[in-house]
Amino acid sequence: MQDSTTTPISEGGFVVIFGGSGDLAHRKLLPALARLRQQGLLTDKVVVVGVGRSDLTDDTFRERASPEIRDRVYFCRAGYDEEGVQVLDRRLAELSEQLSIPRNVLYYLSVPPDTFPVIVASLSHAGLTKQNQDGRGWSRVIIEKPFGRDLASAQELNRSILEHLAENQIYRIDHYLGKEGVQNLLVFRFANSIFEPIWSARNIDNIQITASETLGVEGRGGYYETAGLLRDMIQNHLMQVLCLTCMEPPASLSPDDVRNEKVKVLKALRPLSLSGEDLDVVRGQYSGGKIDGKAVPGYREEPDVPETSNTETFVALRLFIDNFRWSGVPIYLRSGKRMSGRGTQIAVTFKEGPHILFNALPGVVPPRNRLIFQIQPEEGILLELGTKMPGQSIRIERTTMNFAWHEAFQESPEAYERLLLDAWRGEATLFVRSDECELSWSFLQPVIDKWATTTGKSKISLYPAGSDGPDAAQGLITRDSREWVRHA
Ligand code: BG6
Repeated sequence: MQDSTTTPISEGGFVVIFGGSGDLAHRKLLPALARLRQQGLLTDKVVVVGVGRSDLTDDTFRERASPEIRDRVYFCRAGYDEEGVQVLDRRLAELSEQLSIPRNVLYYLSVPPDTFPVIVASLSHAGLTKQNQDGRGWSRVIIEKPFGRDLASAQELNRSILEHLAENQIYRIDHYLGKEGVQNLLVFRFANSIFEPIWSARNIDNIQITASETLGVEGRGGYYETAGLLRDMIQNHLMQVLCLTCMEPPASLSPDDVRNEKVKVLKALRPLSLSGEDLDVVRGQYSGGKIDGKAVPGYREEPDVPETSNTETFVALRLFIDNFRWSGVPIYLRSGKRMSGRGTQIAVTFKEGPHILFNALPGVVPPRNRLIFQIQPEEGILLELGTKMPGQSIRIERTTMNFAWHEAFQESPEAYERLLLDAWRGEATLFVRSDECELSWSFLQPVIDKWATTTGKSKISLYPAGSDGPDAAQGLITRDSREWVRHA
């Protein structure tokens, strides 16, 4: 992994955004590219070409970009079939000639998932995936999520794009890997010698990875009905965070060394228990409630959602990694929409010490040590300690050492800035390899299958918007004599 945030790149070429007129390009990609240029990290020899069928021109497309990048932005009106890609090819050739820009191309597929294989095949048939021949430089493809909707479709998607591209040309994006707080997990674990020796079942009681949002489905009911929270958040974002939290130290920071270690975590996952007393997974769906004092509708009242929908907007699950390091440590993943607060964090709770000294004192129970990585909204690291309260007697309370990112550093880059720059460099550590993606699906596939066969409104636990999820999620952890860690 290079330090791509500070070293400018001199290499020129094209960032081609399929779905250029879409929301992601407008909200995230163009602003990220503008910021990179503003910071001098991308040269003037990097040109952005939006592609799509919309009736846009260079000028009208430029209106969507901020001034820092406007003069480097073009639009090519074309479809995604081979003919369309040939139109694009001619446009790139013209621009390359006019602006003296080499034919290195980073394609960004910000399009509906069913068009991923179509575009890759069109690029390949038109000769655009070939590298370093016919006057072309390198060619790489970033693929937005969702990468498949279950194991079979992810395998099929991998098969179809690997027919045309080498694995090292494919950049499957998971924007959580671009978040500073997530990257800091690697640094925290492997650059600080005091934590590695205690990072195991010997000292850790449980780990909780939580991502909660106060937002609902925000007009995306149609998409959400085909996804649900398990696919939208757990299979990708939370499983990636799990891997970085629990993997062994890699031999180096090269993409394959890091990803090999993540894969080993996924391979060691114990199959989830899906029925009976030992149920490992709970799903829920928000009903009407209040967020910040304002009434909000339930999921089944959202536009494009049928009133019989069983789609989950909340998942809590318990998993185990059956390897030497983590044997017997429960790891809880939890994510939901319309929760009481917004926040992503990893809470690592340590085992109790022997407390030989304090057990003798009536009413004194030292709290367990806990380390919390806050990913958002604020980034930080908190260490909870038992501390003597001031006074004549011994009273121990939980206190917190708090490292707040914003107090130490200036603003951190947006996830898409880091990821675009890394892909431009050919640096794939923060992207998902095909085997990681498939192993994650394969772990969750039994859950998908089980839920597909249980229909009817009553099969899902409802929770009021603005709460902490369904009661069943409470049961999942209290039966282990543990409790959910609240957002710090
Ligand atoms: C996206 C999901 O991948 O991640 C959204 O599709 C979700 O449903 C979003 O809201 C959360 O991302 P972040 O960066 O706001 O935590």
